[in-house]
Amino acid sequence: MTTITKGISMFLLSTLIMALLVMIVLGFMLGFTHPLPWILIAVLAIIPYIHDKIVSNRFVEWNDALSVGIDSIDADHKRLLGMINQLQTAAHYHTDDEMIEKTLNELMDYTQYHFTREEEIMQSNDYPDFAEHKQQHVKMVNEVSRFIDEYRVDKTRTIDNVTLFLKTWLINHIKGSDQEYAPYLKDKGVK
Ligand code: FEO
Repeated sequence: MTTITKGISMFLLSTLIMALLVMIVLGFMLGFTHPLPWILIAVLAIIPYIHDKIVSNRFVEWNDALSVGIDSIDADHKRLLGMINQLQTAAHYHTDDEMIEKTLNELMDYTQYHFTREEEIMQSNDYPDFAEHKQQHVKMVNEVSRFIDEYRVDKTRTIDNVTLFLKTWLINHIKGSDQEYAPYLKDKGVK
């Protein structure tokens, strides 16, 4: 969703709320016992709830199905998911560019830190698929860097496409390649 599309969505939402308020006032002219204004009030009351539901679906929560059973790696993954949610919050509430840049930089630094930690554990334990796994990390960093460069050049693009990519990639990667190395590393005594 671009900044312009977001602006249009906010405008439509505000217009809907204004229209409902006007219809409620007009509805009461039919009498306080008429059901129409009360129905409209109920509709108005559930708009924030629906809005919150839509927004919360954009966030990703840690759950045990994402565990690889190695404490340090799980802690990294939890922190990364938290940072992606933080970025999502900054984007949703139109936080200033400086804050988004800061959050993005911290996220990318921590991603790099996590990849290095994971690669060192795999390499020092002679994990057979180490090279292929490392290649996935390199590809992801390149892809995200491309998204970030696009965002920096064209601020009408929001950071949403970066957060969506990060969320989807991380969840799929944890549930796929990361959980594949877990039995091997745990057999080697990594906790
Ligand atoms: Fe946890 Fe392979 O990244």
